[in-house]
Amino acid sequence: MDNTFYIIGTVAGPHPYPMMVRDFQSVIGNECLVQMPEMLAAAGCKTEQPDVVLACVGGGSNAMGIFYPYIEHEKTRLIGVEAAGEGLDSGKHSASIQRGSPGVLHGNRTYVLQDDNGQVTETHSVSAGLDYPGVGPEHAFLADIGRAEYVGITDAEALEAFHYLCRTEGIIPALESSHAVAYGMKLAKTMRTDQSILINLSGRGDKDIGTVADLSHGEFFCRPSCTGQSVKGNIPVALVQSTFTAIKVVA
Ligand SMILES: Cc1ncc(COP(=O)(O)O)c(C=O)c1O
Repeated sequence: MDNTFYIIGTVAGPHPYPMMVRDFQSVIGNECLVQMPEMLAAAGCKTEQPDVVLACVGGGSNAMGIFYPYIEHEKTRLIGVEAAGEGLDSGKHSASIQRGSPGVLHGNRTYVLQDDNGQVTETHSVSAGLDYPGVGPEHAFLADIGRAEYVGITDAEALEAFHYLCRTEGIIPALESSHAVAYGMKLAKTMRTDQSILINLSGRGDKDIGTVADLSHGEFFCRPSCTGQSVKGNIPVALVQSTFTAIKVVA
């Protein structure tokens, strides 16, 4: 304990870590503020900034990075998408804001999935990155003051969105990001065509191909010469994980 300090890789933990991660990550939100007016004008949208900004929420870093510069833009709705796993009422999810209660985890007070004795409960999500029983404290605050909304997307909905984005855009989204895409697909149906949604693609899905192949009952081969030697579910996912971030506007 004397020579070890535990730092978690998201906007959680004791001050100043949530602030540091937020500030580093908000490069993406600041870039969006600059680039969106031109992109939206070209797409025939009437507003300079998107009507909605969407991002998945595990610990909350990618969401906080894109939300933060938009907090003062009150006309833009901020929506964080938590992992509803097998359903928000199934007990198998990671929706800390929607189903958690105030508690202390990893050095910060926030919403935590816990039992009556304050013991952290088991979480579940198809995406490892959303499978976290807490959430960054600034998200808890944004939820409490009503500036950001938090919703849930199930494993099945995320998987469907994963396939949809691969097929229609040739972009392989991370399963985490697929949660945001899935909610964007639902929400877009309720909006006008001159409105816009900005979705943060927090990572690429190369790392998830084995999982997706398993869940979709597909075969997965690492290269053509491997045909006949399925490696589905057996790839060293940690080695191919990337933190590349891209943005897609759905008008
Ligand atoms: C691709 C990807 N997106 C999202 C997350 C969730 O983390 P956060 O909510 O901190 O952005 C992770 C976590 O590992 C991830 O790998």
